[in-house]
Amino acid sequence: MVKVKTCVFISGRGSNLKNLILCSREKNFPIKINLVIYNNKNCEGVNFAKKYMIPFKFVNTKFKKSENEILKELKKYNISFICLAGYMKIIPSKIINKYKNKIINIHPSLLPKYKGLDTFARVLKNKEKKTGCTVHYVNNKLDDGGIIVKKSFFIKSNDSVISLKYKTQNLEYRAYPEAIIKVFSNI
Ligand code: GRF
Repeated sequence: MVKVKTCVFISGRGSNLKNLILCSREKNFPIKINLVIYNNKNCEGVNFAKKYMIPFKFVNTKFKKSENEILKELKKYNISFICLAGYMKIIPSKIINKYKNKIINIHPSLLPKYKGLDTFARVLKNKEKKTGCTVHYVNNKLDDGGIIVKKSFFIKSNDSVISLKYKTQNLEYRAYPEAIIKVFSNI
């Protein structure tokens, strides 16, 4: 099976990156991670790229020229699919247009509810019954775009921001690979 050349964009801990790397090493998983792009010098997640010998590239997204740098890097590695995994920056339209329907993201809420940051605190404040995570296509609007997979769980009365984050991330490790399989089984 020819695997789809994929780049993962990260800014932080990279636990989803690690999970995707491990999945992508499975024989029948549709993607291979050929590149990791990160925009935060202190990003721990880049260590997973190093550990698993995946090329990685730091891009300073404070500068507009970073758009072209990213595109150049994606071209260099022949990337045709992008997974955002805790990437704390809006993707410029130039990249979105070049990779139409080829960029997906994981978000820690049941979209379309709770777009943006601090999802767990907001979910608790609003006394929601359920929360979870969503994998969706990326378009020009924040945390928008077609939903691929959504997974949820019931919130308990003793849940906190920390416990919700823990439970949500554990769901994410199932949701993201499932979404990728779904994307490529529809093609
Ligand atoms: C995840 O919770 C994801 O939903 C959000 O950022 C977090 C990244 O975590 N977009 P990690 O860096 O993969 O551990």
